[in-house]
Amino acid sequence: MKLFTTGTLLIMSLVGMAAEMPVVTGEPFPDTDGVHVNAHGGGIMKHDGVYYWYGEHRDNGQPSSYQRGVACYTSPDLKTWTNRGIVMEVSETPGDPIEKGCIIERPKVVYNPATGKFVLWFHHEMKGVGYGSAYAGVAVADNPLGPFRLLHTGRVNPGVYPLGTAEDAKNLKWDEKMEWWTPQWRKAIEEGMFNLRDLDGGQMSRDMTVYVDDDGKAYHIYSSESNLTIQIAELDPTYTRHTGRYVRLFPGGHNEAPAIFKKDGVYWMITSGCTGWDPNAARLMRATSIMGPWEQLPNPCRGEGAEITFGGQSTYIFKDDRGFTFMADIWNPKQKSDSRHLWLPVKFGDDGVPYIEKPEK
Ligand code: DGJ
Repeated sequence: MKLFTTGTLLIMSLVGMAAEMPVVTGEPFPDTDGVHVNAHGGGIMKHDGVYYWYGEHRDNGQPSSYQRGVACYTSPDLKTWTNRGIVMEVSETPGDPIEKGCIIERPKVVYNPATGKFVLWFHHEMKGVGYGSAYAGVAVADNPLGPFRLLHTGRVNPGVYPLGTAEDAKNLKWDEKMEWWTPQWRKAIEEGMFNLRDLDGGQMSRDMTVYVDDDGKAYHIYSSESNLTIQIAELDPTYTRHTGRYVRLFPGGHNEAPAIFKKDGVYWMITSGCTGWDPNAARLMRATSIMGPWEQLPNPCRGEGAEITFGGQSTYIFKDDRGFTFMADIWNPKQKSDSRHLWLPVKFGDDGVPYIEKPEK
């Protein structure tokens, strides 16, 4: 007896797919060896039907220095993840920019169909300077499993003014030692005090992501100007260099951990505030052009724990046929490798504005 028609089976498989939307709420997330996934501050890339999850391979202890490199896990279904090892190793050579003991955070990989290369961007701090370098590192590989080879690392767009800078704004002068958070300091930050401070050497780049738009153009989105201002910088067609076109978002807004997605022609960005490893309230921004203007909306999280993003800090928003998944890190600064993962579906209100709820366990 035929139990199901083809149509029924199609609906069942669609329902099945919907039910498979991965939701992770801070419980240990074992890989296929039964070990908690050690890939933090990362993101997911899908290539040739395989999901690649790149992230920080975290060692325990202080400071945040790196002993291994960037980790990669693969999955056929977003649920079962196999450890593929370290795809960009730190170097044993003294003086190498990614010498063991440097800091590598928030790695993101994108595929460039024009060059056939996989491009890895990451927040990079030279060994021994804490968070003082504020560099963006770029590495490339012919294979998504690496090895990724460092191309360059450094500040962003040295000598270049942000888009739309008026001539008279280039000559403004401030007392850079003025007290922070005063109205006059806020005005100075808005006017570009720290942007101009860093003009010659290049803009700071700490927490970051990379976004490839529908038209194939890619953008580097990063926390700049002493973590006070988000910048979005256009990348060249190889995705490995900045073009020099960049904008400043929410000067003085103190945003970290940018994660971005686009739906129905609208760009949405979720960020965190800056409280070290401690969670804080997420922020939501939207724009109809990636280079702005951007508009700030209220915290997208709803329900108990919303004021601390349910204990997490944004890292990536992953899109597939089933919708968008908000990925965040529940940091454990004392035992960083045991930082937990938070993956929650992005929902949309009747007004089209995204929101995130923590599901009941
Ligand atoms: C918050 C950032 O989002 C993390 O990536 C990391 O840099 C910590 N700060 C370090 O305190």
